[in-house]
Amino acid sequence: CQLNTLAVRAGKKYFGTATDNPELGDAPYVAQLGNTADFNQITAGNSMKWDATEPSRGTFTFANGDTVANMARNRGQLLRGHTCVWHSQLPNWVTSGNFDNSTLLSIVQNHCSTLVSHYRGQMYSWDVVNEPFNEDGSFRQSVFFQKTGTAYIATALRAARNADPNTKLYINDFNIEGTGAKSTGMINLVRSLQQQNVPIDGIGVQAHLIVGQIPSSIQQNLQNFANLGVEVAITELDIRMTLPVTQQKLEQQQEDYRTVIRACKAVSRCVGVTVWDWTDRYSWVPGVFTGEGAACPWDENLAKKPAYQGIVDGWSQ
Ligand code: G3I
Repeated sequence: CQLNTLAVRAGKKYFGTATDNPELGDAPYVAQLGNTADFNQITAGNSMKWDATEPSRGTFTFANGDTVANMARNRGQLLRGHTCVWHSQLPNWVTSGNFDNSTLLSIVQNHCSTLVSHYRGQMYSWDVVNEPFNEDGSFRQSVFFQKTGTAYIATALRAARNADPNTKLYINDFNIEGTGAKSTGMINLVRSLQQQNVPIDGIGVQAHLIVGQIPSSIQQNLQNFANLGVEVAITELDIRMTLPVTQQKLEQQQEDYRTVIRACKAVSRCVGVTVWDWTDRYSWVPGVFTGEGAACPWDENLAKKPAYQGIVDGWSQ
């Protein structure tokens, strides 16, 4: 039985994957990407980010994002929007513009509003704010935080709610899989937004993990997030290893995928899991972590790895 089928049987909304426009010319890749028994949800890996969608102020380009969205829609797959406000992959005009507080807030408002409106009715959810935290749980010194404090977060969420009242609004971050300072920062932020009646529907847990190092508190941590009354999703799962690949590492990776899936399965408000691309052929990991890779459930030849069975077992057991 296959990954999405089993996720739905476990009471979840989807199992899905990221993809990216350059990969869509690869026919065998595209065929498996459209296998809805495995993937019933798609995230665009790059083409809905700020540099791709508003490369110069007030000029919006949605062609690549639309390609991904239309493909998923034609196949009946859900979409997660990624992402409205992030410190990375920003065009220069935002980072170097030296805007004052109110101008920057209006820029954030206009960007989120235009982006989310464009995909109105098409998105299951949006990562409205991406990676706002430092590792110690304090706020990252992004251009947005430096100029507006946390005001940009509420501005972005409110703009997204107005633009599409039916999409779920998420804050998404990495290294918030286990309990700890960064996860506590997320809890405090969501609580404070709720107290101010700022719309917030979900917490996205990226889960860029390392073989043999899955935080033992992952299920408890997802439950802590869910206890805020919001939904939770694993949004960018991959589990990398130091190369070369060995049978032993593949077996540990199988076990690790199973652990993550079981944690989501056990938390009823965890709605689904997305892998940050399904094949090692297109993983971001080797380009960023020298000497590491093989993080996905399918290998570079599009063959299933033991990790696939780990996901099957996680949903089934
Ligand atoms: O667009 C240029 C292209 O013109 C150029 O020829 C090519 C040469 O390297 O680079 C292209 O840009 C790359 C871009 O992906 C699009 O392919 C960037 O160099 C590359 O850095 C960028 O990487 C993306 C990364 O975010 C940037 O931070 C990855 O594909 C994407 O998977 C990754 O995704 C992030 C999530 O958004 C947030 N969480 C972490 C995750 C992994 O880093």
